[in-house]
Amino acid sequence: MQVVKYVFQPHGDDRGQLIALEEFKDIPFKIKRVYYMYDTAGGVVRGHHAHKKLEQILVCIHGSCKIRLDNGKEKKVVPLEKPYEGLYVANNMWREMFDFSEDAVLLVFASELYDESDYIRDYDEFMNFIKEHPEK
Ligand code: TYD
Repeated sequence: MQVVKYVFQPHGDDRGQLIALEEFKDIPFKIKRVYYMYDTAGGVVRGHHAHKKLEQILVCIHGSCKIRLDNGKEKKVVPLEKPYEGLYVANNMWREMFDFSEDAVLLVFASELYDESDYIRDYDEFMNFIKEHPEK
């Protein structure tokens, strides 16, 4: 499995850092939705789902967390601990987010509006879905 991590370019000067992200430039899709998680309780594992169509970029803009990616054949754990790193998460990818630091803020750029029918929340259903929709 190829992990696609973007390294965004900060505009740093003696005042501090600033990162600007534009759709189709820094983010490889039209940004239809942005959401973020914070105050995540200790030991919590979020996610436990895949998406049929949705693509995302995850940025831990403060603190740290880990993302487990699972394409049905292989699993990888990717730490996110820098505000200038973005992890691309494709559709048809089971994901779990865990090991959140107390101060973690996980920002997500999404290619689609919220649509519950795009979610696969059952792991067996995910395995069947990827068998029926193999990667091209
Ligand atoms: P949930 O899917 O449980 O989050 P996670 O993938 O991190 O485990 O979402 C939590 C709640 O937020 C759930 O009630 C659905 C709602 N929600 C929205 O209304 N819009 C959104 O864009 C997202 C991601 C979630």
